[in-house]
Amino acid sequence: MKDFIYNSQATRVVFGRGALSSLGQEIELMRAERVLVLSTPAQETWARQIADGLGARAAGVFAQAVMHVPARIAGIAREEAQRLGSDCLVAVGGGSTVGLAKVIALDTGLPIVAVPTTYAGSEMTPIFGITEDNIKRTGRDLRVLPRTVIYDPDLTLDLPVELSMASAMNAIAHAAEGLYAHDGNPVMSLMAEEGIGALARAMPAIRRDAHDLEARSDALYGAWLCGSVLGNVGMALHHKLCHTLGGAFNLPHAEVHALMLPHAIAFNAPWVPEAARRIQRALGVDAGTSAAAGLFDLAKDSGITMALRHIGAVPETDLATAADLVVSAPYWNPRQIDVTQRDAIYRLLSDAWHGRRPD
Ligand SMILES: NC(=O)c1ccc[n+]([C@@H]2O[C@H](COP(=O)([O-])OP(=O)(O)OC[C@H]3O[C@@H](n4cnc5c(N)ncnc54)[C@H](O)[C@@H]3O)[C@@H](O)[C@H]2O)c1
Repeated sequence: MKDFIYNSQATRVVFGRGALSSLGQEIELMRAERVLVLSTPAQETWARQIADGLGARAAGVFAQAVMHVPARIAGIAREEAQRLGSDCLVAVGGGSTVGLAKVIALDTGLPIVAVPTTYAGSEMTPIFGITEDNIKRTGRDLRVLPRTVIYDPDLTLDLPVELSMASAMNAIAHAAEGLYAHDGNPVMSLMAEEGIGALARAMPAIRRDAHDLEARSDALYGAWLCGSVLGNVGMALHHKLCHTLGGAFNLPHAEVHALMLPHAIAFNAPWVPEAARRIQRALGVDAGTSAAAGLFDLAKDSGITMALRHIGAVPETDLATAADLVVSAPYWNPRQIDVTQRDAIYRLLSDAWHGRRPD
């Protein structure tokens, strides 16, 4: 057993079908009286219904959350929260909406109740991000960690299948890297393996029937576990690759995670055989299929576009610049990344660009 440090984080989790109906009670427990409900424009109807359900405790709705939390939108939302005298934020949606709540909380200290409707996992982390002049700044601060999270699988039934699959792979990526984190611990490894397994089993079932409530529950359970791993331990090469590509080429978040993960795991696997074995076991693949190949097959069989060249405008000639960016400011990684790894990273990016199955 390796030495470890384990910090438990204080988020209350309410999980189950119909759990949204306990929102009023949860707000009451927090003694909040002027709730601001946040959502994206696409989920405004939900936000308004939720605000109606809260009655006099709802102070207003702010339905302008967008991907990567632009500083301008965060500023408007913060002013709205102050104007309304809000004492609590309810974020209904995916990582973009939870991300907006976090940036408001960072400045105001307002408590957050998160009601996640994707598998991104932001609700379980103290990580925030804000984008200004095309540059995304991220940080960790316990003030942004949601106080309460309500997981209701009913709210995920209408998450489009394509987005569900990519979002599930995004969650799996948190757990896969958590299995070899420099500050990992046995509890997070248990959660990571269980989370990958729950999502991998749920994905084909959701693909067959998006309204399969059992599978939706399993996927949301997996998302909770994987999000907890992301919130507790540090991420490595895979997340660096996704942040670099996402930032430089404005690519869709979950889709980039889905297609890059097998390549990052293939790159690291020989350095972390135990983590690779646990990923294989969670995926339920046979001994002849590597963790990386198993992840690739899972994503491809789920209908996810597995070639970088097909998901956005990334010219092949720009891969060299991306490789330079990755090695110039690397995250900690079990296989050390520095300029001597630049060609290996370029090959990894090229494999992902072409959509080759790692082996
Ligand atoms: N800070 C963290 O710990 C953390 C973790 C993961 C992701 N993120 C951030 O979250 C963002 C991505 O989040 P995301 O992938 O959840 O996407 P998202 O929140 O942008 O949602 C994508 C789209 O799907 C819609 N949608 C969400 N749930 C739906 C549902 N159940 N039914 C129908 N439509 C629904 C949304 O309204 C939106 O239009 C990125 O900015 C990423 O950086 C942050």
